[in-house]
Amino acid sequence: MTLQAAQKPPADSSKALYGGKGTRRITVHDIAAAKVRGEKWPMLTAYDAMTASVFDEAGIPVILVGDSMGNCHLGYDTTVPVTMDEMALLSAAVVRGTRRALVVGDLPFGSYQEGPVQALRNATRLVKESGVGAIKLEGGERSLPQTELLVQAGIPVMSHLGLTPQSVNTMGYRVQGRSDEAAHQLLRDAKAAQDAGAFAVVLELVPAELAAEVTRSLQIPTIGIGAGAGTDAQVLVWTDMAGLTGGKVPRFTKQYADLRATLGDAARAFAEDVTGGAFPAEEHTFH
Ligand code: KIV
Repeated sequence: MTLQAAQKPPADSSKALYGGKGTRRITVHDIAAAKVRGEKWPMLTAYDAMTASVFDEAGIPVILVGDSMGNCHLGYDTTVPVTMDEMALLSAAVVRGTRRALVVGDLPFGSYQEGPVQALRNATRLVKESGVGAIKLEGGERSLPQTELLVQAGIPVMSHLGLTPQSVNTMGYRVQGRSDEAAHQLLRDAKAAQDAGAFAVVLELVPAELAAEVTRSLQIPTIGIGAGAGTDAQVLVWTDMAGLTGGKVPRFTKQYADLRATLGDAARAFAEDVTGGAFPAEEHTFH
């Protein structure tokens, strides 16, 4: 082997969703192939172009423009008030900020509960106007007609089961599927979503053993949040993951940075420079 050949990095044939060398946009077919390979993968939320570009450059393969934008970006108390206009605007920003990630847009509360035709109208808007590659909606059996029609129309659907925050007013925020009956319903919901053509299922706040059983029983990937280590993928709300969220964060979240402290320190340092006359200095000044 020549020195030149020895120095050449080996050709990377890895198709891994995270860490692979592919540069084209990830599709739902890549997600399906990852399940076959048994690959675990990460998903994060994002609500603006700049944050999305950071996650895209970090190799996060799937970015969710979640209706958690209600609590985490728009200052609402819950996800319930989020509108289609807000979702369309922020989804378009996230798509513009990314090159590789599959961007999934949430259908907000009230945008699909009337029935499949309403769901198709609003999902079509997110695909055409915002450029998302897939949509997410809450509910298994109860959202079956919506899922079927969207999939027939060529719109990939991610289903969301377990704790469904749009139902906070009836459900509250608590672990789902603890009773036998609730566990059986979750399994039925997951199978129904798969049979209707969903390409993945989010499992939120579900006991780990049940989430692992759902994962084993499906051909499509499960994406856990507060659902233990047995799911195919894991999703976190980015402001929780990066420590920007103020106050109490859920126990299932792991905080990988302390952006709230970092930004607060930066703001205080700027304020002190301004009040003390240290900013702007000569190098920031034009003559
Ligand atoms: O809106 C959201 O961020 C979500 C995730 C928690 C899955 O639905």
